[in-house]
Amino acid sequence: MVQDILEAIMAAEGSEQPGRELAGLAGLPVPESYRGVVVRAEETRMFEGLAARDKDPRTSLHVQEVPTPELGPGEALIAVMASAINYNTVWTSIFEPVSTFRFLRRYGRLSALTARHDLPYHVVGSDAAGVVLRTGPGVTKWSPGDEVVAHCLSVELEDAPGHDDTMLDPQQRIWGFETNFGGLAELAVVKANQLMPKPRHLSWEEAASPGLVNSTAYRQLVSHHGANMKQGDVVLIWGASGGLGGYATQMALNGGAIPVCVVSSPDKAELCRRMGAELVIDRAAEGFRFWSDEHTQDPDEWRRFGERIRELTGGEDPDIVFEHPGRETFGASVYVAKRGGTIVTCASTSGFQHQYDNRYLWMHLKRIVGSHFANYHEAWQANRLVALGQIHPTVSRTYPLEQTGQAAYEVHRNLHQGKVGVRCLAPTDGLGVRDAELRSRHEDAINRFRGR
Ligand SMILES: NC(=O)c1ccc[n+]([C@@H]2O[C@H](COP(=O)([O-])OP(=O)(O)OC[C@H]3O[C@@H](n4cnc5c(N)ncnc54)[C@H](OP(=O)(O)O)[C@@H]3O)[C@@H](O)[C@H]2O)c1
Repeated sequence: MVQDILEAIMAAEGSEQPGRELAGLAGLPVPESYRGVVVRAEETRMFEGLAARDKDPRTSLHVQEVPTPELGPGEALIAVMASAINYNTVWTSIFEPVSTFRFLRRYGRLSALTARHDLPYHVVGSDAAGVVLRTGPGVTKWSPGDEVVAHCLSVELEDAPGHDDTMLDPQQRIWGFETNFGGLAELAVVKANQLMPKPRHLSWEEAASPGLVNSTAYRQLVSHHGANMKQGDVVLIWGASGGLGGYATQMALNGGAIPVCVVSSPDKAELCRRMGAELVIDRAAEGFRFWSDEHTQDPDEWRRFGERIRELTGGEDPDIVFEHPGRETFGASVYVAKRGGTIVTCASTSGFQHQYDNRYLWMHLKRIVGSHFANYHEAWQANRLVALGQIHPTVSRTYPLEQTGQAAYEVHRNLHQGKVGVRCLAPTDGLGVRDAELRSRHEDAINRFRGR
């Protein structure tokens, strides 16, 4: 049955009127089950005693058949052509810092509708590009056959705070991480207010890959909720060729700022240069060690790092530090930010107990801003930049759904560049391009940014 859906979507390929072909999906029955990438509740203790680095997503992520859930009000069922690996799938797969079954249990207690999410398996994944198959009661803006990407903000909006900024909804969750029925699957259930138009010049795997990280980088760097970047700002970007960093680098360049890109290999430095960045620091080649031992930071290394930044910028310090590595780099980030500058953080990959010298914060009037994903409007703006061809996908490699474990392993071990894509229903890369003219205008950049 999923095969019938795929055939209908493939019929749109090369058709003069793909929209008409896809509208036919409304007439196909909804499959009773589908294949999804899951972690299993009975395996949450499988890595006990191992260091985080040694916990292997290839043994905890399984592809299995799961029943298709009933659609609730305001929801949509989508056929997922492609998805991508986000670091949150790495966290889920190694059951760190907590098992995501805790999130599902808590969500399940909210209502009869959310109880559907509390299952002994968790279908993961927070990105998707695909086609709407069905919509639930009350959905008016989307219909079967619409080609879409999904952002990953799930909100209930029954409380007042979320009506100012949906990220402040007390029931805010990340779809496919804190909810079930995520995007690393043949079908996925989303709230209709997660949907956005698929950029027409991109293939399925390209369209799926910016999603979570592009929206996060947009709020963190560009939005007034984040660092509110302006023209001429010097922006220090950690992991500048990685998931978040690849988009932060593009947004800095696109917005007239000056990115200083930090990476850990010549290949990654080369990818930043291909994106147009001129100021790049290879932290591995230059041997920065901000901690002399597990408990002690080395301020001399902060100074050496700050001097290196000034050497590249002609004497300027960063107006903004785009933070996510966390414990390992945070002391250096606070130190090198400009007087009055902003350190904006959305994560703690290397450890969430940060240490920094507060004198450099208060005496130099710096501020630390916490940022998390993006509201619908920010995600929409970020997707619009992709659809306009101002921001390009950075997908470097793709895997079929069956090899999602390998894809997550590469992200866990930092063996990747940019984004790692996953073909869910799409049998090959390169399908789904609907605007060949727009694509040809951006083809060079798309290829340049794809990494290796
Ligand atoms: N709050 C949110 O909404 C949100 C959204 C997206 C992601 N995140 C989190 O943000 C983090 C990064 O996500 P991502 O998708 O960008 O991951 P990613 O693709 O793995 O890229 C992160 C990059 O950071 C650099 N890095 C890693 N450890 C480092 C360290 N100890 N010191 C310096 N640099 C280090 C690495 O680049 P080099 O080796 O080249 O330096 C790495 O490629 C993850 O923890 C993720 O869970 C949070």
